Amino acid sequence: MANKTKFQAIKGTRDLLPPETELWNRVEQTAREAFGSFGFGEIRLPIFEPTQLFARSIGEETDVVSKEMYTFEDHDLPELEELKTSLVFRGPNIHEAADVFSYAQRIKDFQGLVASGLKEKKIVATPDNAWAKDLINVLRTRLLTDADELKRGDSLAARRVEIHMESMRGALGTFRFGSGVALRPEATASVCRAYIEHGMQQLPQPVKLYYMGPMFRRERPQKGRYRQFYQIGAEVLEAITPNQDATKTLGKDAAVDAEVIEMVMVYFARLGLEGVVLDINSIGHSAPECRRGYVEKLKAELEKVKNKLGADSQRRIETNPLRVLDSKLESEQSIIEKLPRIGDHLCADCAKHYAEVKRQLQLRGVPYQENWRLVRGLDYYMRTTFEITAQGLGSQNAVCGGGRYDGLVELLGGPPTKGIGFAIGEDRVILSLQEAGKDNMAQGLDVYIAWMGEKTLATAIRAARDLRQAGFRVELPPVEQKFGKALGQADKLGARYALILGEDEVASGQWTLKTLADGTQGKYSEEGLMEFLLKTRTVSS
Ligand code: HAM
Repeated sequence: MANKTKFQAIKGTRDLLPPETELWNRVEQTAREAFGSFGFGEIRLPIFEPTQLFARSIGEETDVVSKEMYTFEDHDLPELEELKTSLVFRGPNIHEAADVFSYAQRIKDFQGLVASGLKEKKIVATPDNAWAKDLINVLRTRLLTDADELKRGDSLAARRVEIHMESMRGALGTFRFGSGVALRPEATASVCRAYIEHGMQQLPQPVKLYYMGPMFRRERPQKGRYRQFYQIGAEVLEAITPNQDATKTLGKDAAVDAEVIEMVMVYFARLGLEGVVLDINSIGHSAPECRRGYVEKLKAELEKVKNKLGADSQRRIETNPLRVLDSKLESEQSIIEKLPRIGDHLCADCAKHYAEVKRQLQLRGVPYQENWRLVRGLDYYMRTTFEITAQGLGSQNAVCGGGRYDGLVELLGGPPTKGIGFAIGEDRVILSLQEAGKDNMAQGLDVYIAWMGEKTLATAIRAARDLRQAGFRVELPPVEQKFGKALGQADKLGARYALILGEDEVASGQWTLKTLADGTQGKYSEEGLMEFLLKTRTVSS
């Protein structure tokens, strides 16, 4: 019987369909234009990267890395993988000495390939692999001994082979050829990796890049939260020149931060996004006299109220006390409000930088509100952090998050570099525009060609081609239709006009154009029709 399983998009993923995709295209096109006008160029990044890239930059303890990444193993050794699979699934006949000998030989081949793979560094030398390699070797020797005994007619040898084979399968199964790879949960780490890989510190600084595309996080899906979601982001990276006096560049950094924030706000305004609110904060830098000192104080205060906090916050006192400030739990709000605030514990440089960011935002006419609890969920931030919310989104109302991340490029093995950027949740921007009724931009069909009679087909095809070339949206039915049915179809598709081509029209060269909204119609020559349509397009656009 045929298998009737109906496939569905995987939980947390979805199809984006027309006409909604027009809105997506507009949102993306507007980003290209807005970011381009600030001197940003597009970077296209891979969808998967080494897991370690994200673990090191975003932080092992963050939710994104510790529980939300889609990871898998990848390697370049398909033959070895195939051999391993066959060794696991196709064991020897445990009663046949010759079969056991030949299996042991295949294991030897496997060991040889593994040894050269390790030497060429195509296989990662992990403790688990070393353990599996040793065990496989011991088991192969035992198999050879038992194959000899089988040959001599030892009745218990088959049972021993069976037991060794069980362990052998386990050991083979533990062996990993590849390294961990993850579907990207965000793109800042990738941009930094690319900056290093392409020696972008040699380019005129700063390097300004934007990107857009899908990201993946195993979160609990709900409105505005998906497992495959789309981000539009931008990053500004700037190599720190040797002997640069960091205190002297604080003002410049603040101006860069403010311009990046201004750019997102300009973009949102162009989109017509409503209820946009910008929250900003500074989380200082990781020095004892700045954030580290503050975190110690915060931790001490949290310990005092520990038993009044929920389980998540209690755990975070140890793993990441700053994240307690993020808590939305009603019962914790009054407690959190009384906790020490980072703004009172910034070092002089960070405080100066933060004051300058605010002054720069004012200069640019960008309204903001300060939010001392805005700490963000990724480890790489320092100094400026910001988040933007918009209306119509319920609890998942952050449409953009970003901040400064000086030092991240260096952490990933690159030169000392400063960084600031943001990512916009495109799905949420679209939802907010839809909620505000700003999604009504689907352009309908311009012309439906109602043709009848085989002799008119060539003319209909030519008319469709010319109109399409002139940029009109044209539907040419593949087979002729009675005019009544064709007009009904044109209506259903929301066409503005129906071009009626019958044998009479073709013979006289006078084509009939019906305006579907009011039912009026006129006769036009081929050129006259084009002229009329082009004119009405200019008027209506
Ligand atoms: P993020 O705050 O993790 O930051 O994500 C940025 C935005 O992506 C969020 O504000 C939200 O709009 C959207 N987003 C995140 N997760 C989901 C989801 N599961 N479903 C739908 N939308 C989601 C970053 O990713 C940083 N890389 C931003 C950045 C760039 N910082 C500096 N440069």
